[in-house]
Amino acid sequence: MSKKIIIANLKMHGSSSFYEDLFAQVKSTQKHIAVSDVEIVMCIPYPYLFLAEKFFAHSGISWGSQNVAKDLAGPFTGEVSVTMLTDFASQYAIIGHSERSTAYCESDLNIAEKFKRLKEHNVRPILCVGETFIEREAGMEKKVVQAQLETILSNGSEIFADSVIAYEPIWAIGSDMAASPEQAQNMCSFIKDFIHSEGKQSGNNDQKKIPLKVVYGGSVNEKNTLQLLSLDEVDGALIGRCSLSADKFIQICNLAHQI
Ligand code: PGA
Repeated sequence: MSKKIIIANLKMHGSSSFYEDLFAQVKSTQKHIAVSDVEIVMCIPYPYLFLAEKFFAHSGISWGSQNVAKDLAGPFTGEVSVTMLTDFASQYAIIGHSERSTAYCESDLNIAEKFKRLKEHNVRPILCVGETFIEREAGMEKKVVQAQLETILSNGSEIFADSVIAYEPIWAIGSDMAASPEQAQNMCSFIKDFIHSEGKQSGNNDQKKIPLKVVYGGSVNEKNTLQLLSLDEVDGALIGRCSLSADKFIQICNLAHQI
């Protein structure tokens, strides 16, 4: 089984003292979890990236943001560029989260440009994809996710190397209604198969699979972690609410370590 990755998505929560406390507790967990077993990534609001660098440099724990600008510099009020992220040694950035694509009308094209920009600067994208409840009810979930991937695939399938795709059904986010193990396994497997088959079609016939991770997100908690992470197609989890509690988040990391 491949190394699991546990990603915290702290959204717009916290304060300096909150992050100092959380980081200190998460860092002390690292002593019990071999870096070779589980990778821990903290995706936090921009103003606390400096703190993450201070706490986690050389610790084996990674950190990053929850968005990035598609442009590198210029008159873009309120935006933060990828080089600003790398100034604080960020290794990851979440892009395409449904809370952004819905509230800030982010298009797939915009997300694809952000993906490309991150890759150009060696920051690993954590690309969120997923369907609404209505789309799942209509049996369209794979079509929807495929369309979200296709815009990025127009840059070639190799662009997905070393990135993370988070399958986050929109109905499962913040809802206490996680996807069933079967739903999570099916979609994670579909995402991998689709990207690999596109790679072959575009001439990557050397049979080498593109090294990428596909994780599940949406109402993951300390009770369903073991079941979801034991699935062989699920390479990890993206954790929202439970990352706000150091105890719960650490418990989830420990469970991932047991698998
Ligand atoms: P949740 O959020 O774990 O609170 O459902 C997940 C996410 O939005 O990434």
